[in-house]
Amino acid sequence: MKPPLAIASAMQQELRALMPALTDARSVVRGGRHFHLGTMDGEPVVLALSGIGKVAAATTATLLLSEFDARALVFTGVAGGLGAGVRVGDVVVARELLQHDMDASPLFPRYEVPLTGRARFATDAALSDALAVSARRCMARAAELLGAAHMADFGLVDPCVHEGLVASGDRFVATAAESRALAAALPDALAVEMEGAALAQVCADFARPFAVLRTISDRADDSAHADFKRFIAEVASVYTRVIVHDWLQGGAGEVP
Ligand code: ADE
Repeated sequence: MKPPLAIASAMQQELRALMPALTDARSVVRGGRHFHLGTMDGEPVVLALSGIGKVAAATTATLLLSEFDARALVFTGVAGGLGAGVRVGDVVVARELLQHDMDASPLFPRYEVPLTGRARFATDAALSDALAVSARRCMARAAELLGAAHMADFGLVDPCVHEGLVASGDRFVATAAESRALAAALPDALAVEMEGAALAQVCADFARPFAVLRTISDRADDSAHADFKRFIAEVASVYTRVIVHDWLQGGAGEVP
């Protein structure tokens, strides 16, 4: 049997949204984490709850690659919108990731991961292309999938897909001052979250393809915490389930 595709989620609600689609499921524990192996849309997959933050993501990614030989990793979750026009309810498919809290200056340039010579880690182009196509299809059906009441409740209007830089750090960015500072320092950053760049660094070490798919849950400002859990349960989890299903059905099996 070919090695599985790995799908890691930061939050329990998202993992729970994917679990019903897993057939022939069996769970194993490694490093204190539960990994759920099975088949989705005919593809061997392994689902994992990474937990929050860069260390949790790096541990999860390392286990997915070393213990399960995952042939590609997809990370799903939510993020705070930083770029102008990146609104709550939009989806961001990362093309590059950077640790915004990495700073070993003056020994190394700000953001550079020491001894790698790199600050930015690119996602796999084909994998990201395929997820972006699936995400666009999902956005086109957002009103039907979420219902008008949920759309209105969260103020979602014509959600769309963005592709570009995502910044990661071990901070939940919840003040307008901090998000303004981040946007000024990294003008091309579309969104901020807490795991993607860690996964990117591990996947670069293992030379394994990966992608990061994020639903914008907040604008990383003073109201960033409002309705966070409800948004994940009622919007982000729905998107994730639909996008992953569409991606798997549309030839994810061709991922090397
Ligand atoms: N994930 C979702 N929203 C976020 C924020 N504002 N900061 C960091 N990670 C997030």
